[in-house]
Amino acid sequence: MRKAVLPAAGFGTRFLPATKAIPKEILPLVDRPIIQYAVEEAVASGIEQIVIVIANGRSAIEDHFDSHPALERWLEDHGDIERLRSIRRLSEIGTMAFVHQKEQLGLGHAVLMAKDLIGDEPFAVLLSDDVMLNPGGTPVTRQLIEAHEAHRGSVVAVQQVPADEVSRYGIVKPRRGEGRLWELDDVIEKPAVADAPSDLAVLGRYVLSPRIFDKLEQTTRGAGGEIQLTDAIRALISEQPVFGYQFEGLRHDAGTRLGWLKATVSMTLESDLADEFRTFVRGLDLRH
Ligand code: G1P
Repeated sequence: MRKAVLPAAGFGTRFLPATKAIPKEILPLVDRPIIQYAVEEAVASGIEQIVIVIANGRSAIEDHFDSHPALERWLEDHGDIERLRSIRRLSEIGTMAFVHQKEQLGLGHAVLMAKDLIGDEPFAVLLSDDVMLNPGGTPVTRQLIEAHEAHRGSVVAVQQVPADEVSRYGIVKPRRGEGRLWELDDVIEKPAVADAPSDLAVLGRYVLSPRIFDKLEQTTRGAGGEIQLTDAIRALISEQPVFGYQFEGLRHDAGTRLGWLKATVSMTLESDLADEFRTFVRGLDLRH
């Protein structure tokens, strides 16, 4: 598995007005833009070519992964070698390509924009809103790639969610399983609680057969009036095996304001700022 697609072309409406001029993927978590965590996970999973789908007129993500000679020179002149390294590392990440999604027609449509760059080979999809951490263990995308290699089918990352949250996700209908891997009978985008076939939600990591592109081309608008990746996966299930993989690791939902705040607090408590931040939090008056 060599290639990954990272869709990053949404309007980021949940974060407006913060995301009026910059994509939400550029909002920071501790010291990095949200999308950098997904890029690092892809690279740590063995991915060599990253395709980022961006909206027209939004260059901040491209700039972030480009070199910045003036800044590098300044850091060098000031002897700030550690920051210099962290900046240089960003522009040295494998091959990165950017494709534009001209109209915001949905996640499935965004993935379809990468068709020509992916070609006829299986590939990974990472939604950077879902920040997946598995410190010291196998990166979540790598876990999916290994499941794909062992079972020769498409694989989506799944995790149990509270029953009252099923309508926020793609929900799978597993058929039979073995350990963490379940073959799927169906997947439904944002079902009502009463219609949900399980409480296993698809969380933003996928390894997909290139056949998904044919399915995406035939997918019409679904939930929320958008061309949904979930609907194309559903069509794929009727032709090829698709598995849900209960991954090992912690997922932070950086796609909502509250989720982003929780991710910020949890991740700061794991960072070099942990001691001072803990002292600060302890000093807060948390009574109503
Ligand atoms: C998207 C997918 C959904 C999935 C979710 C995971 O939804 O459409 O199937 O469960 O990501 O975060 P979104 O968060 O874009 O509404």
